[in-house]
Amino acid sequence: MKKRGAAASRKRPEICTEVCRSPRETERLGRRLARDLPVPAVVLLCGALGSGKTTLTRGIAQGLGLANPDAVHSPSFTLVNIYRGRCPIYHVDLYRVAGRRELESVGLEDFLGRDGVTIVEWGERLGDFENPSLVVNLEDSGGETRTLRIRRGR
Ligand SMILES: Nc1ncnc2c1ncn2[C@@H]1O[C@H](COP(=O)(O)OP(=O)(O)OP(=O)(O)O)[C@@H](O)[C@H]1O
Ligand SMILES: [Mg+2]
Repeated sequence: MKKRGAAASRKRPEICTEVCRSPRETERLGRRLARDLPVPAVVLLCGALGSGKTTLTRGIAQGLGLANPDAVHSPSFTLVNIYRGRCPIYHVDLYRVAGRRELESVGLEDFLGRDGVTIVEWGERLGDFENPSLVVNLEDSGGETRTLRIRRGR
């Protein structure tokens, strides 16, 4: 396994936990996470309804150069919303996708990890997706507090 220098691993731990105490803080964290993302990248967001996945996506999209972050909403009637930042941003929500069969029929592989950054809400439904750049587990810790466990990949 390739070894990282001590300075690099201090700067960019593989796993860390962040506590966000407001939606603004969650967006700010998203902007920060965007700074380290390679292109192409796949980001998996896992967590219950209302845990902050779309809010975090808004921050990541902003960090990727989306001028109007208010445009970021979960795609509800389509599977994917596409935003233009400094690269294409694909915002996928798998909430309504039931089962592996349906997942295969939506053609996700057409753009997953292709030319831009793909952010997948309910990312756990992809099963054991190989090589995501970032996996974030979000948990509602009561009130406006959200606990985010962040695991960086390649
Ligand atoms: N610290 C926080 N971070 C993110 N959202 C927060 C926070 N505190 C409160 N909220 C509120 O929780 C809700 C989170 O909604 P959001 O759409 O981001 O969640 P979600 O995980 O995408 O939900 P869904 O599963 O329905 O797609 C919003 O109403 C937001 O204002
Ligand atoms: Mg959402």
